[in-house]
Amino acid sequence: MEKKKELVLSVKNICKRYGGIQALDHVSIDFEKRETHALVGENGAGKSTLIKMISGAEVPDSGEMIFDGKSYERMTPQLSKSAGVSTIYQEFNLFPSLTVAENIYMGDELLSDKRKTFYDAGEYVEKAGEVLNRMKVDISPTELIEHMTTAQMQLVEIAKAVAKDAKILIMDEPTAPLSTKETEDLFELIGRLKESGVTIIYISHRMEELYRIADRLTVMRDGKYILTSTPDKITRQELICQMANRKVEEIEFHHTWPTKDVVLEAKNIAGNGLEDISFSLRQGEILGLGGLLGAGRTELARLLFGAEKIESGELWLEGKRITVNSPKQAVKQGIAYVPEDRKIHGAILSLPISWNITMPILKAISGKNGIIRQKEEDAIVEEHRQAFRIKLGSVKDHVSSLSGGNQQKVVLAKWIASNPKVLILDEPTRGVDVGAKQEIYGLIADFAKKGLAIILISSDMDELLNISDRLIVLNEKRIVGRLEKEEFSQDKVLAMASGVL
Ligand SMILES: Nc1ncnc2c1ncn2[C@@H]1O[C@H](COP(=O)(O)OP(=O)(O)OP(=O)(O)O)[C@@H](O)[C@H]1O
Ligand SMILES: [Mg+2]
Repeated sequence: MEKKKELVLSVKNICKRYGGIQALDHVSIDFEKRETHALVGENGAGKSTLIKMISGAEVPDSGEMIFDGKSYERMTPQLSKSAGVSTIYQEFNLFPSLTVAENIYMGDELLSDKRKTFYDAGEYVEKAGEVLNRMKVDISPTELIEHMTTAQMQLVEIAKAVAKDAKILIMDEPTAPLSTKETEDLFELIGRLKESGVTIIYISHRMEELYRIADRLTVMRDGKYILTSTPDKITRQELICQMANRKVEEIEFHHTWPTKDVVLEAKNIAGNGLEDISFSLRQGEILGLGGLLGAGRTELARLLFGAEKIESGELWLEGKRITVNSPKQAVKQGIAYVPEDRKIHGAILSLPISWNITMPILKAISGKNGIIRQKEEDAIVEEHRQAFRIKLGSVKDHVSSLSGGNQQKVVLAKWIASNPKVLILDEPTRGVDVGAKQEIYGLIADFAKKGLAIILISSDMDELLNISDRLIVLNEKRIVGRLEKEEFSQDKVLAMASGVL
């Protein structure tokens, strides 16, 4: 590694408080030219908050930020952009009904400089084409965003940064929605951007990838800067230990073999694009669903949960044929679904954390007069807050005030509090930190032990192979493979998922 360092950005003594929480507490970090600098830490450590200060989305209470030698007390989105910062948040900022080229040059000088009254589509398309070429990605500048996959949309976000010749590219959990192959492509692209002199600030909870792509790692904990190291100088165990400030065991997933009692049985189900889906799920069993993005895993979950219509075939629950025409009906019969997108389907962000957790069980904790038994509600909320280690100021705070990972925990707690017979988990640990992940695995094992039947959808291959008792692999909305525990291997699942096997 070369020794001479060129600083592109230093944050110094940044503080930020939200109500009772010190989200950032005198944080100082140096970012060098041409490095991938990972920010790591548990859910709620302050990573995203720091990013928001740098991108100008929020204003610090105190401290300074020095861009290329120039000091600022606060940024605005415009200032930050002109200092060369491009930020890719987890929720993309793209216009679905516009083309790739239009999105890349949205609000750009290309228009204002030449004082054009309407933009020259040809020029945009050509310029966008050059940018995409430079990135070596196979996307057409005239393609509409609404027709794209998540991975492609992310590439367009990166293209926006490349088009602006960004000096600092910030990525907040970029690989969370990506498959293995797409992640590889992203890493190659990051490598090329870095070579061209870009500084990448990278946030992720996935240890493997941090060790693969980070030149330096900075640990944050409880809003504080803890340390900066290079990957070769800190082991994975140490890093996790610094993040959590306690010993976190990466647990071997032990779970007793399921019983013979079939809880849920699907017979030739079709609907929501899926065809001919048959499987049975036993008490205490964890059935994993493998497949690439768009293979039909979430579509299947939504069918079973009554969010989409089953057009033909039969669904049996505990030996009785059932119909699920709505999520309400599904919940009533004991089927719960923890969706992958907590923002859209999971939590109601503008309501208190406590209300979110007890939402599916309001009837059970209310008296005949419809009034909630407060003590009972408080006890349940507290029990789940502790079990999931949800980091919060008060349970009365809105879910929107929580960090990403903690929002995910609220969604999990909510459905688990409803005490279901069948629990469908769609990407349950997406965005969840390493420590909490182990805790969630422990909880899943406990639920299975108690006889809950679980369907697990996960793009995290280790998670899928570790936790499932049996696997079904989907490809193009059909079941293309079934694997028993002894036959599990990553290669087999990938081959089936991509339609090779
Ligand atoms: N707008 C807000 N109002 C109140 N509290 C907030 C707000 N934004 C952040 N916080 C709190 O500040 C702390 C830091 O949150 P932040 O989102 O920076 O965490 P993070 O490290 O990005 O976590 P994650 O890995 O879960 O995304 C959290 O405790 C969070 O609840
Ligand atoms: Mg975050």
